[in-house]
Parts: sequence; structure tokens; C-alpha cells
Amino acid sequence: MSKITVIGSFVMDNVAKMKKYPEAGETVLGYSLGLFPGGKGANQCVAAARLGGDVQMVGMLGKDGNGDVFRKIMKDEGIKQDNVFSCDVPTAIAQIQINDEGQNRICVIPCANYEFGFEHLDKVDEVIKDTELLILQLEMRLDVTQEVIRRAHKYGVKILLNPAPAVELESEILGMVDYLTPNETELAILTGMPTETDEEVIAAANKLISYGTKTVIATLGSRGALIATEAQVQIVSGYKVKAIDTVAAGDSFNGALAVALTEGKSLEEAVKFANAMGALTVQKEGAIPSLHNRKQVEEFIAKNNK
Ligand code: RIB
Repeated sequence: MSKITVIGSFVMDNVAKMKKYPEAGETVLGYSLGLFPGGKGANQCVAAARLGGDVQMVGMLGKDGNGDVFRKIMKDEGIKQDNVFSCDVPTAIAQIQINDEGQNRICVIPCANYEFGFEHLDKVDEVIKDTELLILQLEMRLDVTQEVIRRAHKYGVKILLNPAPAVELESEILGMVDYLTPNETELAILTGMPTETDEEVIAAANKLISYGTKTVIATLGSRGALIATEAQVQIVSGYKVKAIDTVAAGDSFNGALAVALTEGKSLEEAVKFANAMGALTVQKEGAIPSLHNRKQVEEFIAKNNK
């Protein structure tokens, strides 16, 4: 058994850097192209592992070179991969554009991730039952992910859902989630409400709480994160840093949050820790290569909280 189980995606990221994004029909010249291992599931899992979490991965890889890259990463990071399956469809790929502000635009082609079906879910039923905290995103098949949520809820396993890429979800499903971690855009999609001001974010988060979601943690970029429960609403300030590449910032936040929560930290302490991990991630290129370790995060917190 692992304290934390991630059921999620692997994606090989093709990253192009450019001064500004092209408009529709426009061509721009970029200045670099890189290939980095990523995928929201893999990023969150590796983030948790680098922070000392007891974590295992469940998912699907192609029987190809990209799949081998991820298998090696999991081996090197000490992540259990007994329930990472292989298929004849290629490992997923993404096209990512990054502009000079470090912002990103991402298009993922799911490939092997969408080959993870109900038959694989049945094989990992015991894994779900035995874990303390399950981390999910929305890069796998939605029908399968919804079934994971129903099962985990029935088994009394805590669920952390990072609703990305966001789609509208039934309130019944949202009501089964213990920790829901949208960014402002995702929060707007989930609720159909505006999320441009703090007041709007609070109103939208409260709508999710009214569905039964236990805790909403809305990430607000460098402003930090908002925690909403039935009992409280609180904004935990973030860190002002120069972002060069924001890919995987949300994922590293989620991995760190999971580790802190399973260590018994309070919600506020867990979000502070996750904010620091996110702030470090945006200062380095790539998804998995940008994930820092425990010592680096603790040193950053000590230096910036003086
Ligand atoms: O959240 C960032 C990740 O989203 C990238 O690594 C990319 O693969 C997409 O899944």
C-alpha cells in the first residue's frame, strides 16, 4: 500500500518558446524547441516523490521510447509502477507554447492515456481501497475517472481532484471530492460563474461547497491560493518570483499539497508548502525537470518567510 496514489496521465511535452503567441492565421518565429517529460498525473506523482511522499502511479504508457523515458523516471524516483500498464498506442504527446512572460498554452493528444479503461480500473480496485489519498486529474477518460471517484468515495478514501483540463462535472461527482484544486479559469468552467475578483472566486468556491465538496483550494497564481470549506474562507499569500516557464506549476502545487496533507499538516500549512513548491517550479524550464525536492522547498520557505 502507498499513502498516496496518483491515477493519471503521462505526456511527452514538445515545448516551443516564442516572444509572443501567434494570432489565428499568423506565423511567428520562436527561439527554442525542447522535449520534456510531463503530463499532469506524472508531474504530480514525481512532485510528491521528490518531496518525500510515499507515492505510487497508476496509468498507461505506450510500448515506445517515450514510455521507456517515464519508466526510467519512476524507477529513479522510487515510485511504485506495478500498476502502470502498457499498450500498443503511443505514449501521449503535447504541443506547448511558452511566451516571454512564462505563460503557457497546451494541447494534449491523449493517445495511450485514453487506453486506460474499466478493465484496468478493476485490476487496481484493491490499490484504490488501500490508499490514504487518491490524486486525480481530468487527462484520462472522463467516464473512467468518474467511476474512480465513485469507488474511492464508497471506500472512504480521500480524493484530491485537480480538475484540469476543466470540463463541466455533475454536482454529484463534485460532491464526492475532498480536496478540489481548480485555478481561476477551471473554477469558472466548473461553476459557470465569473472568477475575476477575489469576491467572485469566493462565491464560486462556495457554490462547489454547497454541492458537498469538502474543501476547495483555488490556485491564484502569484497571489497564492484560496481555501474554502463550509466553516472558513481564507487566502494564503503566494510568493512573487520571476516566472520563466509556468508548465507544471499547478501540478507541483498538487503534489506538495498531497504530501503535506498526508503528513498531517493543517490546511493552511499545507497550502503554504504547496505555494512554495509552485513558486520554485515556475523558475525552471520543463515539467518534470522543474520539480524541486524537499530540501530546496524548505530552504526557499526559510529564506522567504524571514
Ligand atoms: O500541467 C502541465 C502539463 O499539462 C504538461 O506537462 C502537459 O503534459 C499537460 O499534461
